Amino acid sequence: MSETASEKNTVLMEKIVSLCKRRGFIFQSAEIYGGLNGCWDYGPLGAELKRNLKEYWWRKNVQEREDILGMDGSILTHQDVLKASGHVGGFSDPMCDCLLSKARLRADQIDPQSGTVYSYTGASHEESGWTVEREYSVLVTEGQDENKARKTARLYYSQFLTDKQISPKKIELAGESTESVENTTSYNPENGSLLTEPREFNLMFKTHMGASADDGDESAVAYLRPETAQTIFTQFKNVAETNRVKLPFGIAQIGKSFRNEINPRNYTFRSREFEQMEIEFFCRPDEGLALTEEWLERRLTFYGEIGIPREHLHVLDIPDGERAHYSDKTYDIEYAFPFGIQELEGVAYRTDYDLKKHRECSGKPLEFFDEETKEKLLPHVVEPSAGCDRTILALICEAFDEETVTDDKGKEEVRTVMRFTPRMAPVKVGVFPLLKNKPELVAKAREIQKMLMPHLNVFYDETAAIGRRYRRQDEIGTPFCVTVDFETLGESGDELKDTVTIRERDSMSQKRIPISELRNFLLDAIA
Ligand code: GAP
Repeated sequence: MSETASEKNTVLMEKIVSLCKRRGFIFQSAEIYGGLNGCWDYGPLGAELKRNLKEYWWRKNVQEREDILGMDGSILTHQDVLKASGHVGGFSDPMCDCLLSKARLRADQIDPQSGTVYSYTGASHEESGWTVEREYSVLVTEGQDENKARKTARLYYSQFLTDKQISPKKIELAGESTESVENTTSYNPENGSLLTEPREFNLMFKTHMGASADDGDESAVAYLRPETAQTIFTQFKNVAETNRVKLPFGIAQIGKSFRNEINPRNYTFRSREFEQMEIEFFCRPDEGLALTEEWLERRLTFYGEIGIPREHLHVLDIPDGERAHYSDKTYDIEYAFPFGIQELEGVAYRTDYDLKKHRECSGKPLEFFDEETKEKLLPHVVEPSAGCDRTILALICEAFDEETVTDDKGKEEVRTVMRFTPRMAPVKVGVFPLLKNKPELVAKAREIQKMLMPHLNVFYDETAAIGRRYRRQDEIGTPFCVTVDFETLGESGDELKDTVTIRERDSMSQKRIPISELRNFLLDAIA
């Protein structure tokens, strides 16, 4: 039977997750205790990859621009900040519970279903005299056996049995009636059970600070920030006044955010703890829309520079009525993950919504004095807001590749290769002596390792055959490998003395290069 595209993508995702664990990119948080749902730990290679991404983002958006300043705000957030921003009252998802399995589902993510609803008014057990009066129903979709409804209903009512020795099969159902329904979202797609009515579930992590934290003191309430943006708005005035800026200018921040997601899923894609890379770009009101277009293009270029090509990205222009309450224009930049096309970043024109709210709630003037026009105004804001962990996942998915290659002896094998762009690759170069039992080769290789270490991430390896060592580096995406051989030592004459073989990951081609040129060659290639 041929695999469907969706099955192929599931297998692909499984391979990616397995490689990430096997090679130390990503581990489940608290795995030895059964795991902490929605939280992930980055291992040695994942940590390097993440640093490379964050450093490049910072370099492009802060260090190489005169009009953007960086900041690093606190994670613990004053409750008034989040009341003003609307997060305390409104940052929620509609959530419902399955009456049978107790699974919690996002109401707005349930696919509509059609079929026959079997309803009951209660259940009883004649022998013991037990009865329960409670309405319940089950959806039976087309092609499913109607007895499924009765089995599911008996399981549901058996939860209320006082005598747990009674088998659910012995329960009598009361008042069965049926009704055809179309496009309902009131039933669990997994088991057909009725769901509770949707309730709003606030996504913020609440905590209590200080000595009165245990006394139920409401003023001790603080939150883990759900986005980095709010610290930027609350510090806007301080940053502007201490840096003699003029409009338009931005404040950039990279940092952790926390959301108690109802259904963390798709590996690291929807996590409860994640990092954001956000810019709030302050401008005059009449510049907002044009700057939103500019930022969209700039951000698409950025993704190309880190190895996510334009053709794998989708731009969604969010229509009126579907945008966040604060936005006059929003583009979602999406990536074609194996599990579907999903959001990487939002570029939103937030108008002056946030500064206005903070001015109103804090009672502090947040106007900006524009030296050029000599007027005081509340700037508008364009916000490119990217997810660091989502970008890492996209980089990993984009890089993963398997190809069939033939070795020297004509044997075919599958080469797994992470085709990271060199500037993102966790390890930039592998350095190998051809043989580990030749002290001169080892000494030279160590010398090269030492020379390169202050400039880039080097991995020294002397174990196994050279082909195996190349494969190990291919699997983690190391773009270059350098081998010290007998030619390096001058055994084939002076011409090749102090040269090494440099092997390129994607083409697997090799060339010789003088050791004296190695550093600059690598630095140019990974810049
Ligand atoms: N300040 C605007 C803001 O936070 P958002 O669309 O809620 O907007 C921005 O989040 C980005 O943060 C998303 O595009 C996504 O990349 C990332 N993000 C949001 N929730 C996330 C989660 N639960 N797990 C991982 N990344 C998340």
